[in-house]
Amino acid sequence: MQIVVLGSAAGGGFPQWNCHCRMCSSVRNGTSRAEPRTQSSIAVSDDGENWVIINASPDIRQQINASPQLAYANGARGSGVRSVIVTDAQIDHTTGLLILREGLPLDLYCTAEVAEELSTSYPILSMMKHWEGGYRTHTVDPTSDEGWQIPFVPALRFHPIVLASNAPPFSPYRNKPRPGDNIGLRIVDTRTGATLFYAPGLGAPDGAVLSAMASADCVMMDGTLWTDDEMIREGLGTRLGREMGHLSVSGDDGMLALLEQFDKPRKVLIHINNTNPILDPDASEHKAVLDAGVEIAFDGMHIQI
Ligand code: MLT
Ligand code: MN
Ligand code: ZN
Repeated sequence: MQIVVLGSAAGGGFPQWNCHCRMCSSVRNGTSRAEPRTQSSIAVSDDGENWVIINASPDIRQQINASPQLAYANGARGSGVRSVIVTDAQIDHTTGLLILREGLPLDLYCTAEVAEELSTSYPILSMMKHWEGGYRTHTVDPTSDEGWQIPFVPALRFHPIVLASNAPPFSPYRNKPRPGDNIGLRIVDTRTGATLFYAPGLGAPDGAVLSAMASADCVMMDGTLWTDDEMIREGLGTRLGREMGHLSVSGDDGMLALLEQFDKPRKVLIHINNTNPILDPDASEHKAVLDAGVEIAFDGMHIQI
């Protein structure tokens, strides 16, 4: 299985256009060695030619153009991008569905809850029907671990895992999320058994998450915030990370402590917010992550398992 990180930042990207936090200012002004990052998305493939995009970010056009692996030409027009999965209805994970209009129709996989949000609160699936019929939406049952297959990547099996996180700010289910509002994915290469667990938005791990982490060869986990009150302390927001559905990286109950329990997988932090000091290669927080044996995702990162 091949994995390409298309975008390693959280919503807003890095730097965020209107943000003057320490990290955004330093990358904008070139006063740190931090690298800019686009918004949250990965692509997976079983043959390096046919790809499934997992989460369609507002930056998807730029991300695909920056990834020669995805440029497979199967006609006068064509792409290696064959299908899309979205793990939630958040703007940073779904706005790219608008940008992919030139490639419609495409198969889209998501839960019924997410499909409902994308047809009501944020009705992009209804809008896109005007482009060659739009997305052929396949709903996946997050309470079943049976998983599903996608014809273009037949060697991969996709298993949804319900994640405790939050529904988007525009959702009637904000602060009362349903099990299908956020999923992680366990993706198994049925030829080798190699397994990826991808969870870019995770508020609190439960037994299913722990067992998915234990059995994976690579985990790509929520690295949004270093501390729970980071947005408030920086004067950029009023909400704690946990209220937004993101477990912080540091702290006794944080993501690093959680990852420390597992020996087997390659460990990668992804969906990193622009305020998070781990983005600065010269910061002590960056070093603490690497010292814990955990990698920090960057745009264009390629992983083979
Ligand atoms: C989140 O991950 O909490 C959201 O995507 C934030 C946002 O983009 O508004
Ligand atoms: Mn997000
Ligand atoms: Zn910022």
